[in-house]
Amino acid sequence: MNITVVGTGYVGLVSGTCFSEMGNNVTCIDIDTDKIKKLNQGIIPIYEPGLKPMVLKNVESGNLHFTNNLTEAIQNAEIIFIAVGTPMGNDGSADLQDVIAVANSIGNIIQQKTIIVDKSTVPVGTADKVKATIQQALDARNVAIEFDVVSNPEFLKEGAAIIDFMKPDRVIIGSESDYAIERMKQLYAPFCMSHERFITMDVRSAEMTKYAANAMLATKISFMNEIANICEQVGADANQVRIGIGSDNRIGYGFIYPGCGYGGSCFPKDVKALRKIAEEHNYKASLITAVEEVNDAQKLVIAQKIIKKFGENLTGKVFGIWGLSFKPGTNDMREAPAIYIINELVKRGAKIQVFDPKAMVEAKAYYLKGLNSIKYVNSKYEALTNADAMLLLTEWKEFRSPDFEEIKNLLKTPVIFDGRNQYNVFDLEAKGFEYYQIGKRTRSEAIN
Ligand SMILES: NC(=O)c1ccc[n+]([C@@H]2O[C@H](COP(=O)([O-])OP(=O)(O)OC[C@H]3O[C@@H](n4cnc5c(N)ncnc54)[C@H](O)[C@@H]3O)[C@@H](O)[C@H]2O)c1
Repeated sequence: MNITVVGTGYVGLVSGTCFSEMGNNVTCIDIDTDKIKKLNQGIIPIYEPGLKPMVLKNVESGNLHFTNNLTEAIQNAEIIFIAVGTPMGNDGSADLQDVIAVANSIGNIIQQKTIIVDKSTVPVGTADKVKATIQQALDARNVAIEFDVVSNPEFLKEGAAIIDFMKPDRVIIGSESDYAIERMKQLYAPFCMSHERFITMDVRSAEMTKYAANAMLATKISFMNEIANICEQVGADANQVRIGIGSDNRIGYGFIYPGCGYGGSCFPKDVKALRKIAEEHNYKASLITAVEEVNDAQKLVIAQKIIKKFGENLTGKVFGIWGLSFKPGTNDMREAPAIYIINELVKRGAKIQVFDPKAMVEAKAYYLKGLNSIKYVNSKYEALTNADAMLLLTEWKEFRSPDFEEIKNLLKTPVIFDGRNQYNVFDLEAKGFEYYQIGKRTRSEAIN
């Protein structure tokens, strides 16, 4: 099939590449000229395991193309995916201006029957807006061209995006058109070989499914973090509690790991947007609001523990940080807890030495830009040299089982703040460390 993907970000690039891998002829288009130039030079703008070789292979075979020219990109497309960003607007709602701009351009350009697919995460009712926008543009051209607008929300996880896309848990298609559903089924058939994963429903339910899925996962995280905070107060261990409740298959182990809160490009903005959607329909979403409040507070728990130990004035203190990205396997820093924690420390005079395997370029260029007190170093151990304490903020695999003797030798004082509960099995206090974690008041905390 001839497929065009508009918006070559995380979702657009991964989707386009995976469709091309299955033999489709795919054109990915973006307004960012630098991004397209780099992609045409074989430089991949994001880190995602397995993505680079797949892009290079399909460009080489002629299945995958990158361009800034929308007219050229959509002229022969049978299916056009809209995968542009839907960032948080000033009032917390999803900003749809890019989606609507693309819909308008599509209406100005298409020449033949086309299926337009909303893959961006968009509020309920957006497919209707996209449809109306395209129709308006066609009317202005005074042409009658058939088109369908389909909702196909994306559920890939950054860090495992290729695996998720190639083997999805489910493919949700919201449409009232039998023709569009049939073509989408054919497009996704190679991704659903072992068993049926294709779920069709009405457009609005498909749009809502994406928000409901993300809100549910965010709720599990905030719920567990709240339990963790209570555990600290009552002398329980959140990790034991996690295992105790996760073994109930109605609850499950997924998304109940206590830590320093969720981040990333999706949960924070989608939870906010869902609250806003409810508000706009005169419904007060109390649970969703609480999920957000708990998460905002959770991002600062580790910083509060540090302040409790070292005092409000952190001038002269140095913190060695492992991990910046909001989760392992990605260089994405959007809404990462590390941003909030580092800002809390730096504004109190602390100096930071940090190592992350993938996210340091992003952090330096955008998310921690202008903070002079940060030194980006080339190895995890270098980050700890003469530091007053170590902080673990992202659970990259290479941080999971470190050489604690080496850590002790490098640190000025052997103090570890574990924002991801990775080291609680090592009995670090017996090894001579002061150890702080989330969800359990350690012996160090009881003493201080
Ligand atoms: N990142 C994820 O893990 C993920 C997962 C599921 C769903 N989503 C949703 O998918 C959508 C895209 O997310 P993303 O993370 O890929 O965003 P992104 O910011 O990485 O990419 C968006 C791209 O769209 C481009 N763009 C904007 N306006 C354009 C236009 N008019 N024409 C062409 N290109 C344009 C931007 O330049 C950018 O490259 C969002 O709605 C997001 O919520 C993201």
